[in-house]
Amino acid sequence: MKISASFLGASNIGSTLRRLNVTSVDYIHVDVMDGKYVKNKSLSLSELKEIPDYTRKRLDVHLMVQSPLKMIDTFATLNVEYLTVHIDIKDNLDKIFERCKLYGIKVGLAVNPKDDISIVFPYLDKIDLVLIMSVEPGLPGQEFIKTSLTKINRLKEEIKNRGLNTLISVDGGITLDNVKYLRDVDIIVSGSTITKSPDFEETITKLRC
Ligand code: DX5
Ligand code: ZN
Repeated sequence: MKISASFLGASNIGSTLRRLNVTSVDYIHVDVMDGKYVKNKSLSLSELKEIPDYTRKRLDVHLMVQSPLKMIDTFATLNVEYLTVHIDIKDNLDKIFERCKLYGIKVGLAVNPKDDISIVFPYLDKIDLVLIMSVEPGLPGQEFIKTSLTKINRLKEEIKNRGLNTLISVDGGITLDNVKYLRDVDIIVSGSTITKSPDFEETITKLRC
């Protein structure tokens, strides 16, 4: 299980990224919000471009935006491993997959809590990762929605039955208490649990075991 640290809600982005850079965390989870797909707005283009000034970790970008296609060129210049868009957006998903492939960026699809996990099944052989939202997208520090665990199991079964390698990532509300239910997912995204703790590395180590 890999850990992707979200800094959404961190009071000082620069210092949080610098502190995360010297931990064993696997990825930096970059939450981008446009004020349309979700109410809040986060990270302007210039803020995004500054991220490599603070960390050399690979980025796991989560675009909570209605029209991500036009942003992909920007991410091609950053250290991005995964770029995830939501399944119910306006842009054409195939065009997004194509553009990411062109840049060698792995692509993910995010599924919201209200949606049945089967909506992602037709795309499983075209994508690298499914991001299961275990909170409503838009805010850090919310409570983990327990029905996400059923979704994880159904998705796992489907991936296995079809012999695919699609990764499962889970985002939102993950704590030192409930992480035990997520041992067999590929990536967990953790925001507040890490960034509100005094010792990031100690918390990351606890999340892993
Ligand atoms: C929610 C974001 C998450 C969130 C995670 O919209 O996608 O990445 O910031 O933060 P915690 O771990 O605090 O729920
Ligand atoms: Zn996220």
